[in-house]
Amino acid sequence: MQIAGSRVKYFPVANISQVPEGQAVHLNVNGRALLLCQVEGQFYAVSAICPHAGQKLYGGRLQGWEVVCPLHRARFDVRNGACTAAPAAEALHSFPVLLEAGKVSIGMS
Ligand code: FES
Repeated sequence: MQIAGSRVKYFPVANISQVPEGQAVHLNVNGRALLLCQVEGQFYAVSAICPHAGQKLYGGRLQGWEVVCPLHRARFDVRNGACTAAPAAEALHSFPVLLEAGKVSIGMS
C-alpha cells in the first residue's frame, strides 16, 4: 500500500495480536532486519542492527521503551530509535507504522 503523495510504501507484516505488549518481534521486511514493538498500546518499528558494531538486536521483552544491545549493552528508545546509552552513538533507523483492520504495516521509502 502507498499513501497518496508519499514515497513511503507500506508492507503488511503482522496481525496486531502477534505483537504482545512490552515485547519486540524480530522481522525481515523487504530485505531489512527490523524489530516491531508494542509499548503502552503503541506500535513502533526500528532497525534490528546495532549501529555500534553491527550486532543483531534480539526480540523479546523490552525494558520500558528501550531495547538493549546484547553485545556491549547500548540502549535505544524504540519510539524514535534514539541511542540512550553508550557505547553506540548513532540512532537506530525508525520506520512509520500503520494499523488498519487488525493488521500492522511498516513503511519504507
Ligand atoms: S554492538 Fe551494540 S553496543 Fe556494541
